Amino acid sequence: MNVYDSEQMALILGQDYELTGRAEDADLYLINTCAIRRKSEEKVLSLLGRLKALKQRRPQMLLGVGGCVAQQEGEKLLQQVPHLDLVFGTHGVYKLPALLKQRQETKQRLVDTSFSPDLPYISQPRLSGSVQKLVTVMQGCDNYCTYCVVPYVRGPERSRPSGDIVREVEVFLGQGGREVTLLGQNVNSYGRGLSENITFPGLLRRLAELPGLARLRFTTSHPRDLSEELIGCFAELPPLCEHIHLPVQAGSNKILAEMNRGYSREDYLDRVNRLRQACPGIALSTDFIVGFPGETETDFQDTMQLMQEAAFDSAFYFKYSPRPQTAAAAFPDQIPEAMKTERLARLKKLQEQLSFASNQRLLGEVGQVLVEGFSKQKNTQLYGRLRSNLVVNFDGPRELIGRMVQVRITKAHLHSLGALLCEN
Ligand code: 5AD
Ligand code: SF4
Repeated sequence: MNVYDSEQMALILGQDYELTGRAEDADLYLINTCAIRRKSEEKVLSLLGRLKALKQRRPQMLLGVGGCVAQQEGEKLLQQVPHLDLVFGTHGVYKLPALLKQRQETKQRLVDTSFSPDLPYISQPRLSGSVQKLVTVMQGCDNYCTYCVVPYVRGPERSRPSGDIVREVEVFLGQGGREVTLLGQNVNSYGRGLSENITFPGLLRRLAELPGLARLRFTTSHPRDLSEELIGCFAELPPLCEHIHLPVQAGSNKILAEMNRGYSREDYLDRVNRLRQACPGIALSTDFIVGFPGETETDFQDTMQLMQEAAFDSAFYFKYSPRPQTAAAAFPDQIPEAMKTERLARLKKLQEQLSFASNQRLLGEVGQVLVEGFSKQKNTQLYGRLRSNLVVNFDGPRELIGRMVQVRITKAHLHSLGALLCEN
């Protein structure tokens, strides 16, 4: 979502500014921020600290902070950081030209963290010729999981009219685009509150019919709202890739209830089974939080067991981080940091075994890769993703970038695969 918002900022300001890779050349320096955990918030403050010298050397450079930390902290950020010019919230992206103009004219430092009833979207041209595109279908969240700051910083849930989404995807496909990832905090509730009668599966079906769309993905879905109809889409819609990110957060029913997730471990495992029945081999990834308030060793064991039972292909895991305004921040029995660290390490070890085993099962298989570019580790190699979202590295010519190729998997690593290019 933040990548998408940053792209929107670059586009909106495209008439007045061009992007530079060198901070020393910048007339405007914008930091887009994440408030999901304290660590991401600390990174913002430390970057702002480091920019003080640059701002002193180049006082004409405007320095702004946007996104979730800006939304959360507002005025406080201006007070805390004297060399900061502008603070704009999660709904402020589209007001940027006006805000910058106001700053130039009034010479006053500015804060705008107001919410707007609806969000305009700027259709992106193919940024750097990429054949992949992120498309926001809804923003905000009304779920209020007790650990999560998103409903406070992103505001209430709003869906985007389906016609706008379809048009944006059509334009992209007309320019040669191949893969679209639909974005939303909880895509399963797409359509709620719109005047038209449409559900998320309905939207998927409309998009899947568009000529030229090779791959369709979405993130993130809430396990509680994973409908039979959506599960069916994986079997029915050829472009829909065989991968789902389904954040479980915890394996203990007590903790899931305290988190206000609205499902039990049994519900979750049942949905996983049904997904695997409808779409054998579907890649499953998830998120875990360890050290949620009140989590006992027994609760944590439930999480470890669920990890094993669901046999996730990959997972992200985080130490619980108390967030401002959230209910869980005030819960009793906060878990000591050292215990969180220790539980995280055990969870990581188990998932690494599962991920490695899952990757090894792919050895010898032939798969389809959409080539994204030169590999970051070894820049003589190309890399791309399988439909399962796994990264594959292989030798091949530059001309393949942006193309769909067949590869044979020859190496399994923890988070990626090695492969040989097949005769294409
Ligand atoms: N502490 C730790 N992890 C969190 N997440 C969300 N809020 C918190 C928090 N307060 C994690 C969840 C979510 C992912 C995006 O971030 O696992 O799925
Ligand atoms: Fe946060 Fe829960 Fe909404 Fe996801 S569904 S954004 S975890 S409140």
